[in-house]
Amino acid sequence: MNYEEAYARLAAYDQLHVLKYYEELTAAQQAELLNQIEITDFSALKHGKKGGGARGEFAPLGALELSAIEEKKEYYTQIGVKAIQEGRVGAVLLAGGMGTRLGSDGPKGVYDIGLTRPVYIFERLIENMMDVVRQTGTYFHLFIMTSDKNDAVTRSFLKEKAYFGYPEEYVHFFIQKMAPASDYDGHVYMEEKYKISTSPNGNGGWFTSMREAGLVAFAHEQGIEWLNIFAVDNVLQRIADPVFVGATLDAGVSVGAKVVRKNAPREGVGVMCLEDGRPSIVEYYELTDEMVEAKNEKGEPAYNFGVILNYLFRIHALETLFKGEMPCHVVEKKIPYIDENGVRMQPERPNGYKYEELVLDMIHQLDTCLPFEVVREREFAPIKNKTGVDSVESAQALCEKNGIVL
Ligand code: UTP
Repeated sequence: MNYEEAYARLAAYDQLHVLKYYEELTAAQQAELLNQIEITDFSALKHGKKGGGARGEFAPLGALELSAIEEKKEYYTQIGVKAIQEGRVGAVLLAGGMGTRLGSDGPKGVYDIGLTRPVYIFERLIENMMDVVRQTGTYFHLFIMTSDKNDAVTRSFLKEKAYFGYPEEYVHFFIQKMAPASDYDGHVYMEEKYKISTSPNGNGGWFTSMREAGLVAFAHEQGIEWLNIFAVDNVLQRIADPVFVGATLDAGVSVGAKVVRKNAPREGVGVMCLEDGRPSIVEYYELTDEMVEAKNEKGEPAYNFGVILNYLFRIHALETLFKGEMPCHVVEKKIPYIDENGVRMQPERPNGYKYEELVLDMIHQLDTCLPFEVVREREFAPIKNKTGVDSVESAQALCEKNGIVL
């Protein structure tokens, strides 16, 4: 992209201040800035206010509960093991996030949660995958989504650790897109005179980015039909869990979603539901009093199952039903920037917006979903913070409870 094209593009989005220092930049910096203007998606800025879009009409969606799963466990396991052995299942690790709440500089996966020895988050997840490899006698492909900000470190770390014993030919990387960060008026911040402040565009872009990287085509070549999407930060995460795979395939749905029973009526998790007759996820702050009090035919809370960012998507359903257009979530954040004198500022309070797409919004574009209940204490130990709730400490305690020596 040349200067004139960059100017026209910025003018269209009312972002001409990005070129304020252009004349004083070196040729290399000018080229870097022009390239960034070319690859940045400025269209997200049109969502320059807080909050999601209008929602439809909600109705409860029941889950396949623990007791029902237990009754048919062997049957589901057989279906799941067979699908994995036939190479029909792959896994996608969402590892492009910034992990700002954890406050560590590196990618979350390289964080060491060991107590008596080093145990990196990536290592913990691969150990969990190895349980399935032992059970099925088969390796399955792992696709790792990184972002521009952590791709090089993630790749070199995993290579140096020899993928913690997982065969390199089964590990594939792709990079997600970046979105600009802006002030409250929707003007992008600059983090250097030659650099727009950007951050990863949320975990909802995984399918589009994976496809653009040629890896959906690769999945087809390999005969992979299902992709198990999971977050980097749940260290008890079961990946390509044969029972879950079996139940989802057996149900004939487009996506399976692991869920846990909420621990309080207003717990801060997204809740599985129907929205205008299609599967969806209602955010905890969108639950009305009426929804919180609603009961199902068993007299239990009707909106009772929270998602844990572990989904099994049928690729064919994504290709035929998923439109790609996703709602944009506008999140208030602290964004480092250079001020009008070119001085770098590190704000102590939120000073603008980041724009993210979320994987949970993909569910609503599909036609059918199976919420699949799992035992929270066995499968859900998210690491979001350094201490307190959903922290390194709480995850370490949960690992110990599950007999995992850290
Ligand atoms: P979170 O929503 O917890 O975000 O990610 P985060 O960036 O890791 O942490 P904070 O909010 O900055 O503290 C949930 C999952 O989605 C991935 C994360 O890596 C994690 O596995 N993710 C998030 C992405 O892959 N890309 C993104 O842009 C955001």
